[in-house]
Amino acid sequence: MSGGGGCCGELYSCVFDYSTPRIALIKSRKVGLLNRVIQLVILAYVIGWVFVWEKGYQEFDTVISSVTSKVKGVAATNTSELGFRVWDVADYIIPPQEENAFFVMTNLILTPNQTQRQCPEVRVQTGRCVAYNETVKTCEVDAWCPVENDLTVPKPAFLGSAENFTVLIKNNIWYPKFNFSKRNILPNISTEYLKSCIYDRVNNPFCPIFRLGSLVEEAGESFQDMALLVCAEDHIVSKNALQ
Ligand SMILES: *[C@@H]1O[C@H](CO)[C@@H](O)[C@H](O)[C@H]1NC(C)=O
Ligand SMILES: *[C@@H]1O[C@H](CO)[C@@H](O)[C@H](O)[C@H]1NC(C)=O
Ligand SMILES: *[C@@H]1O[C@H](CO)[C@@H](O)[C@H](O)[C@H]1NC(C)=O
Ligand SMILES: *[C@@H]1O[C@H](CO)[C@@H](O)[C@H](O)[C@H]1NC(C)=O
Ligand SMILES: *[C@@H]1O[C@H](CO)[C@@H](O)[C@H](O)[C@H]1NC(C)=O
Ligand SMILES: *[C@@H]1O[C@H](CO)[C@@H](O)[C@H](O)[C@H]1NC(C)=O
Repeated sequence: MSGGGGCCGELYSCVFDYSTPRIALIKSRKVGLLNRVIQLVILAYVIGWVFVWEKGYQEFDTVISSVTSKVKGVAATNTSELGFRVWDVADYIIPPQEENAFFVMTNLILTPNQTQRQCPEVRVQTGRCVAYNETVKTCEVDAWCPVENDLTVPKPAFLGSAENFTVLIKNNIWYPKFNFSKRNILPNISTEYLKSCIYDRVNNPFCPIFRLGSLVEEAGESFQDMALLVCAEDHIVSKNALQ
């Protein structure tokens, strides 16, 4: 037959032949044992690693979460510089809106009646000196005068009563892939309950309103100590003061 016939022969056998693998039974303990060990290893891999350890049967999705907070509380102070003053949310929450955070002012250094002019620096310096007070002279600077004096921080903290302020924390989470959402305000919590409750580990474990003092205590800190801290921006003493 020619080459063309060979090709036809291959096609013929391809279509009309039937082939099956042959099963060989090997009566050997060694081979049998090896076979079982390999099967066991594969089974252990699939069950132990893929299912139990890596949880390969589970689907994953990233969470979309939003946290909003609302602080409540009013403080009153009566000082010689300011007289009687009431502080509410608009006064002590700076900035008014923050992403997943809130800032409560607990202490402040008052520098009343500042204007732009020349005045004595707050720290003692030699140089061209002007009288800072009766006993001490300091360098003269161009600044908003009088210059803020952060060497003496009000103690106890000006707004120490902020420990009794409360914050309502709302947290929603959503898994878009599973259309599953949940929030920290349980469905059975009524508006009346929300108006009066304050979180307590024992009595009100589902209340989303927290006392600032308790939050700090839970973190192992003292609110009154923390409230004292003022972000002291160090004054750069004017170097070009003349002798
Ligand atoms: C504030 O303090 C001053 C003096 O300490 C006092 O005379 C005044 O009555 C106080 N004001 C209020 C509203 O408590
Ligand atoms: C600030 O200015 C006001 C009015 O000009 C004045 O009554 C007050 O005593 C001044 N305060 C200080 C601390 O100088
Ligand atoms: C003057 O200021 C210095 C430094 O702040 C202070 O130690 C001193 O007691 C003050 N003197 C008077 C009379 O206020
Ligand atoms: C906070 O409130 C409690 C009880 O209402 C009161 O005893 C405590 O003095 C308050 N704390 C401050 C710093 O005002
Ligand atoms: C997601 O679930 C809510 C109720 O839980 C249902 O009203 C809404 O139609 C669902 N959305 C989709 C896209 O399945
Ligand atoms: C809301 O339900 C939880 C149980 O899911 C329960 O422990 C809690 O006391 C309930 N809260 C209110 C205010 O009914």
